[in-house]
Amino acid sequence: MLKIHDLHVYYGGIHALEGISLEVPANKIITLIGANGAGKSTTLRTICGLVRAAAGTITFNGVDITRASTTQIVQMGITMVPEGRRVFPDLTVLENLYLGGYTRKDSEVKRDLDWVFSLFPRLKERKGQLAGTLSGGEQQMLAVGRALMANPTLLMMDEPSLGLAPLLVQEIFRIIKEIHSEGKTILLIEQNARAALQLADYGYVLETGRIVLSGTGKELLARDEVRKVYLGEE
Ligand SMILES: Nc1ncnc2c1ncn2[C@@H]1O[C@H](COP(=O)(O)OP(=O)(O)OP(=O)(O)O)[C@@H](O)[C@H]1O
Ligand SMILES: [Mg+2]
Repeated sequence: MLKIHDLHVYYGGIHALEGISLEVPANKIITLIGANGAGKSTTLRTICGLVRAAAGTITFNGVDITRASTTQIVQMGITMVPEGRRVFPDLTVLENLYLGGYTRKDSEVKRDLDWVFSLFPRLKERKGQLAGTLSGGEQQMLAVGRALMANPTLLMMDEPSLGLAPLLVQEIFRIIKEIHSEGKTILLIEQNARAALQLADYGYVLETGRIVLSGTGKELLARDEVRKVYLGEE
């Protein structure tokens, strides 16, 4: 579905992505793990057209989207839940959700709103509340719900469990599974490498702008270097 080939990204003099290649097949859950500053968010931002690639290609369902605008990319079926739950604080929950669907031309917005409310009943209870007054966990749910309102076929999530209490982390992973079972393809970035690799069909390990390892979730969980560096084992 998504293919990235030899992607290079610079921020001024910083070579943030040094030629990464990866694939996200349809209907799979793929995870990207790596230390702080490795380039995970940069990868997602580049796919979304928020950051420009200096070289390399990104294709989605066979179409080259390397230079497409973010609006075009969303309309083609890719959305992102950004790092740090960037909801619009002065808008209500419902307004945030409708904004997620602003590029849509189909008439199924109401159906997806109902689906989002069934995934996150808490959001339904609080639909008139200003997003900035939601708890951190609720804002994360809203960020996921807003991304789903664009009716993506590929949902990319940048550290959805960051800063959440353990029970809520479990809940987020359960919901990712449920979203996947509804037919969405998922590209997931996680600090919680163990949970991400247990969930994912396939994973990539990013180290300072390069992919250094890849394999099925199971294979990566069994690798010594992954266990030491990302799972904190001896
Ligand atoms: N807007 C920017 N301007 C300059 N440098 C940037 C910018 N955004 C990211 N970088 C740099 O690019 C590198 C990759 O950053 P990125 O945010 O992609 O890392 P990450 O893997 O998502 O890290 P984290 O786990 O901390 O979120 C880092 O060295 C970072 O300082
Ligand atoms: Mg990041």
